[in-house]
Amino acid sequence: MRKIRIVAICGSLRHASYNKRLMYALGAMMQGSGAEMVYLDLLEYQLPLFNQDIIKEFGVPHELLQMRDIVAKADGLLVVSPEYCGSITGVLKNAIDWLSISLSKEERIYSLFSGKPMAAAVATTSKVVGGSKGGEHIRGIASTMGAIMIPHIMVLHDAAHVDIESLEHVKVFAADIVAFMKVFCKLGDK
Ligand SMILES: Cc1cc2nc3c(=O)[nH]c(=O)nc-3n(C[C@H](O)[C@H](O)[C@H](O)COP(=O)(O)O)c2cc1C
Repeated sequence: MRKIRIVAICGSLRHASYNKRLMYALGAMMQGSGAEMVYLDLLEYQLPLFNQDIIKEFGVPHELLQMRDIVAKADGLLVVSPEYCGSITGVLKNAIDWLSISLSKEERIYSLFSGKPMAAAVATTSKVVGGSKGGEHIRGIASTMGAIMIPHIMVLHDAAHVDIESLEHVKVFAADIVAFMKVFCKLGDK
């Protein structure tokens, strides 16, 4: 049987982003588990701020078509994002808004996400309280789009000071994601 393809999107564009590090660590810890991570780097695509007039005036941005192709081939999705002001980042929401639209009358809104298993994680520099609101906002957006959200969202606190214990949590969460995706993804469809 082929590997489960998990497309991972990070909500931080920062080169030294803790969320990017967490995303890559999750991917690395999935090696040998029957899942492979495909990274969709939002910095590579540079989508404009969402505005439907852009499509009317200039057509569908080619970056969007490339991104849609990657997401369409995903068995499951992983979103790893900072919490900004108690929510997700504007960059991530902008990408989701673009990816959510339908490009033809036959296509349904949210079709790239609906019915797909989705996992989420938040890395924050906050030592105690931050992160959970951002995670819950991802859950709310995923629910609207009909994605099947993993029950537990990981919050990595004090992300600037990762120790052995937090790495162990990352390892456990990576295994949780794969187990969840194996239950809900439909490999036969692709
Ligand atoms: C505009 C802005 C808003 C932030 N809001 C929050 C917040 O609501 N909760 C939180 O835990 N951390 C917040 N932070 C701190 C982030 O956790 C921290 O900057 C983190 O390193 C960002 O993720 P990154 O390293 O992946 O870029 C905020 C940071 C910025 C720049």
